[in-house]
Amino acid sequence: MIPDELIEQVRDSVDLVALIGESVELKRTGADYRGPCPFHGGQHRNFAVIPRKGRFYCFVCKAAGDAFSWYMKRTGMDYPTAVREVARRAGIVIPDTPAREGPDPREPLFQAVSVAHDWFARQLRDAPDAEDARKYLGGRGLDLDAVGPFELGYAPRTRVFEEAMAQLGLKQEVLLEAGLLARREDGTVVPRFRGRLLFPIHDLRGRVVGFGGRLLGPGEPKYLNSPESPVYHKGATLYNLHAARNAIRREGVVLLVEGYFDVLRLLLAGIEHVVAPLGTALTSDQAALLRRYSQQAVLLLDSDLAGLKATFRAGDELLRHEIRVRVGTLPPGEDPDSLVQKGGAEALEPILRDAVDILERKLQLLDRKGWFRDIEHRREALDRLLPTIRSARDPIQRELYLSLVAERCGIDKKVLEQEASQRSLPEPRPSPVARREASPPQATHNDGGRAELALLRLMATSGEWRERAAEGIPPEWFETGLHRELFDVLRQQGGGGPAALPEGTVPALVALWGRLMAAPSTVRDDLIYEDACRVLEARPHFRRLDELTGRLDRSGGEEQTALMREQLALNADLRKRFPEEFERRYGWRRLRRRAKQRRQP
Ligand code: CTP
Ligand code: MN
Repeated sequence: MIPDELIEQVRDSVDLVALIGESVELKRTGADYRGPCPFHGGQHRNFAVIPRKGRFYCFVCKAAGDAFSWYMKRTGMDYPTAVREVARRAGIVIPDTPAREGPDPREPLFQAVSVAHDWFARQLRDAPDAEDARKYLGGRGLDLDAVGPFELGYAPRTRVFEEAMAQLGLKQEVLLEAGLLARREDGTVVPRFRGRLLFPIHDLRGRVVGFGGRLLGPGEPKYLNSPESPVYHKGATLYNLHAARNAIRREGVVLLVEGYFDVLRLLLAGIEHVVAPLGTALTSDQAALLRRYSQQAVLLLDSDLAGLKATFRAGDELLRHEIRVRVGTLPPGEDPDSLVQKGGAEALEPILRDAVDILERKLQLLDRKGWFRDIEHRREALDRLLPTIRSARDPIQRELYLSLVAERCGIDKKVLEQEASQRSLPEPRPSPVARREASPPQATHNDGGRAELALLRLMATSGEWRERAAEGIPPEWFETGLHRELFDVLRQQGGGGPAALPEGTVPALVALWGRLMAAPSTVRDDLIYEDACRVLEARPHFRRLDELTGRLDRSGGEEQTALMREQLALNADLRKRFPEEFERRYGWRRLRRRAKQRRQP
């Protein structure tokens, strides 16, 4: 039994066009995609994939369904297996044994937030106490009727909220968990939002999960947002995405702005494909979320220094997710809100039209500062440009960037390419999700053999590493005979400084030793150690997975079902345990590329 909410999440998450596109040659026509129908084997483009609805449909044979039925029809899988397979493609791990039975235990939280939302919205419309809030909106040129559909709310200054919620039957502990009440240090409980205009924040299914609250006058903090809760994860949520996603698909591009008012103003002007991160720099999860709906983004952040910094950070994050990024340059001192308030949607048109590619924008700014005029500055300019080149994961984009920068900085493209593929210095502990999304390790040892050598080098140069490896590494991780022999020699030498080979060592080992010592490493030792251990530990498991996959291709009937079950379980397990290795080997974009190559040999 896979929980309903998980199934829905999977359905929401999977990129149906990419999925079906792996075996059907799809071409875009309007908002849909068309191709020859694989079910009746048609030659003409009568088979439609409708991403907006998450469904496919053949106008001739009437075959129809969603991502799950696609798998079932194409492979004969049963429903739960198809759900698991689609989930895997969407990067969602479905636990083998359901975490729980019955309804979503978060239901009371959704309920509480929803009830509170209704109440807040009613306050804004009717409560005498909310007159200031209504005036505030008016003062920003926002008509109460016009913003009606967006269901803004008002949280009164007084503490009537608690009483109102109690009367509506909501329990205090639920409101605390939902972040609507807060417990002070002295133990008293107060409403989190007081005297603020509230913007409801929705999840992808359109449920209100939190609020962003703005003070009506001066004061700190200007914005106060709901805290993290079981229903609200700000780093994995984008403001307005639930409403914008169809428009984003339709337009083929998403506009990224800074805040609530920017979004609201654009919506009122009829521009729907707009979202905002929630008071933080754009996270990797948010970028991944956007990539489901669009391969292009236009950044519309402030043009001041802070805004530019945020622009380039967000830009690099989007590039890492293979989203093409352009930057719209707003007049100094304006944000999309103020601009559109004054000039309407037309004011935004030239800015969208003139938006330039993010690397182009960096080049422009550096050029303006005169950084391409002399050698030293060019070196510095290059250092500013490299992160963006490194972020570009799309091979074509990367290629373009390399050419462009090589030309502007006057350096050889090969040299630049090399520089760009150096491992950048480790950043301070990225989140596990971010690590999974980061570019695959291009480190010194991409395969087991090199990982073995890297460990041996560490052990040869330092007693500390020797002791640690002797304790932590099972000898069978070394699969190359000679490497294993050297490992055995080294682990017996104990602590102290550099190791020495004993008298009478066989020539092959001496030669290996020489090669090791001649190639000092430039990467930090602890990173090498961790990386190499991970590669070696993962190796046999991935080998098993490949073997299962191979047998699966050649099997049928019940054997196939059994193999598939084992394969899927191992797959999910490895994805969790070795995310980087997994992504490096089977990242789904890699798979898609491979499928494409197969189709066009
Ligand atoms: N923000 C936030 N918390 C803060 C400040 C800002 O979450 N303490 C987020 C909000 O989403 C806000 C956005 O950042 O909408 C932009 O805030 P700010 O830079 O202060 O911009 P303004 O557009 O000037 O806000 P406003 O127009 O309401 O004055
Ligand atoms: Mn503003």
